[in-house]
Amino acid sequence: MILLDGKATAATIRTEIKEELDKLTGKYGRQPGLAVVLVGEDPASQVYVRNKERACEDCGIKSMPHKLDNTTQLELEGLIQKLNRDVNVDGILVQLPLPEGLDSQKILDLIDPEKDVDGFHPVNVGKMSLGLPGFKPCTPAGVINLLKRYNLDPACKKAVVIGRSNIVGKPLAMMLSQSGPCANATVTLCHSRTADLKAECLEADFVFAAIGTPNFVTADMVKEGAVVIDVGINRTDEGLAGDCDFESLKDKVHAITPVPGGVGPMTIAQLMVNTLEAFRLHVGA
Ligand code: GUN
Repeated sequence: MILLDGKATAATIRTEIKEELDKLTGKYGRQPGLAVVLVGEDPASQVYVRNKERACEDCGIKSMPHKLDNTTQLELEGLIQKLNRDVNVDGILVQLPLPEGLDSQKILDLIDPEKDVDGFHPVNVGKMSLGLPGFKPCTPAGVINLLKRYNLDPACKKAVVIGRSNIVGKPLAMMLSQSGPCANATVTLCHSRTADLKAECLEADFVFAAIGTPNFVTADMVKEGAVVIDVGINRTDEGLAGDCDFESLKDKVHAITPVPGGVGPMTIAQLMVNTLEAFRLHVGA
């Protein structure tokens, strides 16, 4: 069984970015800037944002935090517009979910698509669906990058994605089914209304779990030798748990990601990749 080590792979990617930026920041006279907007006190979001700030520091990206205890829709919209105009800001990330009462879609729609390093703006979602270059959401792009680094190509294989969220499931299904490197899969997108989820999973060479239910995918649901990618991070009384039952799966699969240390670090590494790309776009490198 191959343990897909997202933590080590993400560290390698951060080192590559740092080396690249050591050259670019001298040449262009400034570092890439990533504005990270966090509203409210959601403990999970606070951890994610801290990890994103650390990753920036690690690879030579200037993290520009905007932490707001309390804000109005209008004030937050004003902040986004200010960041859009700021020439030292290459990427803008609004940590989701926003507290109740704020219209997330309206906020995301305001971000300049050229600074949308999360790939959530409708222009970037549209570009992705057309197969055009643009920013891609960090979690699905990080998953594909992890597969690439382990030479696990889903081309011509059957893939099942469980979960149809806009952040993970939907874009991941799109990316896997497109033509291009580490894609070309035959994809089934499953969700809470799928009639026979187990039967769908048993057909799959690649299973991607993004459901948000701890240990949901068990060994009886996957075929021998499948590749299992666990996108879940669930806080349980026993600590962090993924969407996949690692213990039962590990002796049946060809490869699997652990939780923690699998997809999570790859999401953050991808954010650094996207921020570097935004910087290149803005300085014309
Ligand atoms: N909340 C959960 N995942 C994400 C993500 O990838 N980006 C942002 N901004 N918020 C999230």
